[in-house]
Amino acid sequence: ADSVKVALLGCGTVGGEVARLLHEQADELAARAGAPVELAGIAVRRPDKHPELPRHLLTSDAEALVNSDVDVVVELIGGIDPVRKWLLSALHQGKSVVTANKALLAEYSAELSEAADASGADLYFEAAVAGAIPLLRPLRESLAGDRITRVLGIVNGTTNYILSAMDETGSGYAETLDEASRLGYAEADPTADVDGYDAASKAAILASLAFHTRVTAHDVHREGIGAIGAADIDAAKALGRTVKLLAICERVLDAEGGESVSARVYPAMIPRSHQLAGVNGAFNAVYVEADAAGELMFFGHGAGGSPTASAVLGDLVAVARNRVLGGRGPRESAHAALPVRPMGMT
Ligand code: HSE
Repeated sequence: ADSVKVALLGCGTVGGEVARLLHEQADELAARAGAPVELAGIAVRRPDKHPELPRHLLTSDAEALVNSDVDVVVELIGGIDPVRKWLLSALHQGKSVVTANKALLAEYSAELSEAADASGADLYFEAAVAGAIPLLRPLRESLAGDRITRVLGIVNGTTNYILSAMDETGSGYAETLDEASRLGYAEADPTADVDGYDAASKAAILASLAFHTRVTAHDVHREGIGAIGAADIDAAKALGRTVKLLAICERVLDAEGGESVSARVYPAMIPRSHQLAGVNGAFNAVYVEADAAGELMFFGHGAGGSPTASAVLGDLVAVARNRVLGGRGPRESAHAALPVRPMGMT
C-alpha cells in the first residue's frame, strides 16, 4: 500500500520520542497500520537547535508543512494559537489529526470535531489526558453502549509528583516543581499544572466524552495546589489522610430531577487507606463508573516523553489503519445537549 505521510508539529519532550520511535519501530508500525508510516516533515521553531534530527525533514514553516502532501498531522506544540488554525485547515483538507493538545481540545473540541466530521477525517487525542493510560478510547468506544455516571481521579502528574514528595519526604514545593520540570512532566509554563488549568482542561475533555455533551475548561470549577503548604500536609497526616489534586466529573440531579453535568478540580484530603492515596509520583489514576459496567480503574504513567509518545503512536497507527482500510474513528459532533452545572455547584 502507499505510505501514510505524517507531518510532525513540534519536537520537544514528546515529539522527540515520537520521531525516534517512528524511525526505530518502522517495520512493526507498518505491519500494524497496513502501510508504511512515513515521517514527511518536522516543524520546529529553530531547526538549527535539532542536530539529532535529519536535516531534510526539518522546517520552521508549520503551516506550509500542514498544506503539503501529507495525510496525517501530529500536533505536539501545544497552546491555542496558531495551532488551532493549522489543525482546522488540516481537517478541512481531509487530513487526519492526532494531538496531545489539552488546552485546545478543552476549548475548541466542538469546532475541531465538526471540521473532522465534515471532511471525513479522523481526530484522535488519547495523549491529551493521562499520558500513556488508554482512557479516552475506552470512554469513546468500549463504553459507548453503557451509561457513564462518574469519572474521578488524578490527571496531573506534576502536581501529584509535588504532593507525593511533600507527603513522603517533606520536601519543599519549589525544589519539587523544578524536579518535575526537569523530568519532563510539567508544562512549558508550569503554572498551568500548579494552578489546576491542566487538570481542568482534562476534566472538560473527560466530561465531554463520558456524558456526550460539551464541557469546556471554563465550565470546570478549578482550584490549584498553590496554597497547599507543609502545614496542610501535616494536618492531613494527623487525620490519617493525604492531599491529592482530584478531577471529578459526574452526572448530577437538581431538585426537580433534571440531569446536568458537574466538573471540578481541587485538592482533596483523602483517607490514606484509599487506593488513590497510593498513586504517587507522576502516575495518574482514574475511576470510571457506569451503570452496566460498574466501577473501572485506569492506572499508569500520566506524563513524560515516552509514556505520552506511546499514546500518540497508538493514535497514529489507528488513523493510518483507517486511511488504509477506508474507515473512520468515532464521530463526536452529534452530541446530546446535557446542561452543565454552573461552576462550583454540586
Ligand atoms: N503537565 C502534564 C502533567 C503533562 O503533569 O500531567 C501530561 O499531560
